[in-house]
Amino acid sequence: MSTSTSQQPGDAVAGEKLRAGAPRVDSGASAPATQTSNFGPTSNFGPTSLSLDVRGDFPILTREFEGKPLVYLDSGATSQKPRSVIEAMDAYYEQRNANVHRGVYPLAQEADAAYDGARAKVARFVGWEPKTTIFTKNVTEAINLVAYAWGRANVGPGDAVVTTQMEHHANIVPWQQLCKAKGAQLRYLEVDERGEICLAQLDRELAAGDVKLVAFTQVSNVLGTILPVAEMVARIRAAGALSLIDGAQAVPHMPVDASAIGADFYAWTGHKALGPTGIGVLHGRAEILKEMEPFLTGGDMIASVSFEGATWNELPYKFEAGTPPIAEAVGLGAAVDYLQELGMERVRDHERELTAYMMDRLAEVPGLRVVGPPEAERRGGLASFTIEGMHAHDIAELASREGVCVRAGHHCAQPLMRCLGVSATARASVGVYNERQDIDALVESLLAGRRVFEL
Ligand SMILES: Cc1ncc(COP(=O)(O)O)c(C=O)c1O
Repeated sequence: MSTSTSQQPGDAVAGEKLRAGAPRVDSGASAPATQTSNFGPTSNFGPTSLSLDVRGDFPILTREFEGKPLVYLDSGATSQKPRSVIEAMDAYYEQRNANVHRGVYPLAQEADAAYDGARAKVARFVGWEPKTTIFTKNVTEAINLVAYAWGRANVGPGDAVVTTQMEHHANIVPWQQLCKAKGAQLRYLEVDERGEICLAQLDRELAAGDVKLVAFTQVSNVLGTILPVAEMVARIRAAGALSLIDGAQAVPHMPVDASAIGADFYAWTGHKALGPTGIGVLHGRAEILKEMEPFLTGGDMIASVSFEGATWNELPYKFEAGTPPIAEAVGLGAAVDYLQELGMERVRDHERELTAYMMDRLAEVPGLRVVGPPEAERRGGLASFTIEGMHAHDIAELASREGVCVRAGHHCAQPLMRCLGVSATARASVGVYNERQDIDALVESLLAGRRVFEL
């Protein structure tokens, strides 16, 4: 995709059922870690060889629509929730509900322990410190927090922020707003025909000497591309700039050690990671967070307030104004417990094998084109595609008649759609609970859709 490397802000460019709360993987440990795409077109129904086989933990998967079982292939938008998460939130409200950080009575102390205990679990899940793990409303708010609280104080005229053409709007618009307000430049790393970015271009951007921060996704929500994040962070740090990673499509699907990656900020969102809506996470480097002014102000984030002014609470509370999402934190804590118990290596193996299978089966549909890297190894658990002669919304609508849930549209990545030369794609995305038969149902629904269109 050939677009200019330096855009101004605003330029749109180019085996066994498991008990709730006790997930267990099957004994496929001897299966190869990487299954490449050589499944036959009429492959057996049922679990992958690396199956997690956890469908029974997800109550919603028993639903039917007009007699057709629910085939949920929209985990990229939001994941379904295991019973253990739902029960943890219920138990919190039934047994422990009180406001946090302000009560001396035992019930309030239990609520405190539940909230900050969840923070410790969530931080540990990605190898970070609880004290520098901030709960937000979602990843969008986490990125905005950095763009406002760090950006407004550290980015000025003549400076640049760099992001990529494949970002979700959540990792574009806050930087556009920042650059507009501060007279800075926003530049984009290009996406090539294979759906990859070029590290040499990153080096060139950094060599310009004006870059303050580079913000990029770990896994593209449209292309599926997995970016070489640790390598990118090393180059960015060597150039004296800061890095922010949007881990929304990574943390739920693969092992992530945010400390080992080494970014200055790492953000993700709870509802895509088997947790509830209303909670996101920002991990930040302590020395930077300490220097930053607060983002939102009010209760809980202060040390003291007088009529003249205020001083700030310690980390992480300085960035958590007002009553936080307590039950949601408890739910997210239960979600990471669940994922940890499954083992993130096995989650990734399962989803990679399923993605390879999906890529092979989608290739059977005439006129279908998948965007992004062809190899399952290079992508997260999703495939965005077009079918010649059908609009993406028709694809999704016809699939839904078979009970198959896929997403259609621009996936909050309108600039990338322009690079791809399409207005919309359909996207199928998998989670821990998907099996091969879901992919088979998807392919059948696409073939049926083509027949409706007499293609
Ligand atoms: C890569 C990526 N970043 C950011 C977001 C925004 O997530 P949220 O709406 O939870 O803030 C999404 C959601 O689709 C996403 O896929």
